[in-house]
Amino acid sequence: MLYYLSVGTPPQLLDRYTELTGRPALPPRWVLGYHQSRWGYETETAVREVAEGFITHDLPLSAIHLDIDCQDGFRAFTINPDNFPKLADFNHDLVARGVHLIAIVNPGVKADRKSELFEEGRAQEVFCKLPNGKLVIAPVWPGLCAFPDFTNPQARHWWSRQYEYLLDLGFTGFWHDMNEPGVFVLWGDPSLPQHSTQHFMEGRGGDHREAHNVYGLLQAEAAYEALSEYKPELRPFIVSRAGWAGLQRYAWTWTGDIETSWSGLRQTIPTVLNLGLSGIPYSGADIGGFKGNPSAELYLRWFQMSTFLPFFRTHSANNVKPRTPWGFGEPTLSIVREFLQLRYRLMPYLYTLAWEANQKGYPLMRPLFWADSTDQDLWDVEDAFLLGDAILVAAIVESGATSRSITLPKGYWYNFWDDTLLEGAKTVNIAAPIEQIPLLVKAGSILPMSVEKQLILHIYAPMSLTSEGRVYSDAGDGYGEWRLDEFYLKRDRHILEITWQQQGNYTFPYTTVQLHFHGIEVQQAWVDTRKVNCQNNCLEVEQFQEVRLQVK
Ligand code: GLC
Repeated sequence: MLYYLSVGTPPQLLDRYTELTGRPALPPRWVLGYHQSRWGYETETAVREVAEGFITHDLPLSAIHLDIDCQDGFRAFTINPDNFPKLADFNHDLVARGVHLIAIVNPGVKADRKSELFEEGRAQEVFCKLPNGKLVIAPVWPGLCAFPDFTNPQARHWWSRQYEYLLDLGFTGFWHDMNEPGVFVLWGDPSLPQHSTQHFMEGRGGDHREAHNVYGLLQAEAAYEALSEYKPELRPFIVSRAGWAGLQRYAWTWTGDIETSWSGLRQTIPTVLNLGLSGIPYSGADIGGFKGNPSAELYLRWFQMSTFLPFFRTHSANNVKPRTPWGFGEPTLSIVREFLQLRYRLMPYLYTLAWEANQKGYPLMRPLFWADSTDQDLWDVEDAFLLGDAILVAAIVESGATSRSITLPKGYWYNFWDDTLLEGAKTVNIAAPIEQIPLLVKAGSILPMSVEKQLILHIYAPMSLTSEGRVYSDAGDGYGEWRLDEFYLKRDRHILEITWQQQGNYTFPYTTVQLHFHGIEVQQAWVDTRKVNCQNNCLEVEQFQEVRLQVK
């Protein structure tokens, strides 16, 4: 047993920990958008209707996940040809609209002599065996299954070749489920027999007690390598229910089959925070919970919070009502639309955080003590979180709440909805009408947002002398050029200066830049020494070196 001990602030610890276990891969940009899922999209027509619904109701959408219903007899790497007859063309149409299809892949391979996949795996000896040489067989969705031994590089290689079929059909991401591996049992441990399941363990041999935790991690590694090989121009996207230290190198995760309840919503926050502090920055929960029908209020509060979670996906079980924003009627639909649009406007900020995660291992969603680990009042906060350093989200996790109290980290904070200034290191009460959840922005932040081709830098007046903000950009996928735009703020009483420095060769992707000032009143403005007009505290500029403001 080898122990590593690191001492430092949370950012220093995450930097060090992910130096040891691996940095999170930079995801394709579209993955940071909204995902719609349901166990129960049984036909191409049903999926088409959902995609159309998003268009009709003017709701942005980035991905639809297909659960086991799209498969032939729930078998891995199959598609039901009767229910999904023209999947490749359909996928093509969807991608043209910016919607990506994600396919579920479970590790259990149906132990059926008529199945080519099973016969091939058996011949190549890639399945887990018992000490007597027989295959380990256990029931999952398709019936009795054999299980690839992902601790064997040959098994990983064999498995990785299977993704090609789904990639050719146009799927752009994969959802690894039941990969603890989970099996159906009447009692006891719902996984492979711990002592009798033999694993290759990279050549040294071992049993499932040792292999259990790395099983899902190594399946993700196999898929990551397959995707990198077949689509070298694209960044892999894999979601995995199981994993272990280092999963961040290959996959995202989610909190599993969470209960539809206020306590399920509340539990999501510490779970996603703890995953982030364990080096896995990308996770989220089934919005509205998996097993049940949420009230409009629970769904909406869950949706509002998830707007600020890295993985933003609605999913539900097959025995509950279809869960779409329009299914709840008004005012839920309009409020959900506002939050969806806000998520997409925040994309430059989210993508910059994703880049930071890739560089330093910092989670996107952070506990409040990330801002000040010396403040013990923040250590136990489990119903609020930071998104990056700039945004504080105080989730509403109680039915009927129209306000809540929150202990703020030190410094000054602006209410996102009305720019009211609040002093930190205090407990404050904030209004939370149904159309809002309390959102605060740290004074001194430069919060990058965008609307189409315009970059909007929301500048929250610093109380201190200096602060900075940055925007990472690239093509959104692949491994081409990148750029980093860094903005520095300097305040000297009534003068505020903003300077811009650039690195990297990717062409600036925005046509114009708007500087939107909060917490100050701009009286006069100069862009690179040229005097300009500032209306409603907004300045429309192109690229500049220095903006100088006289403020009140
Ligand atoms: C598991 C998954 C769930 C999925 C279901 C059917 O319960 O956690 O997300 O919908 O299996 O595939």
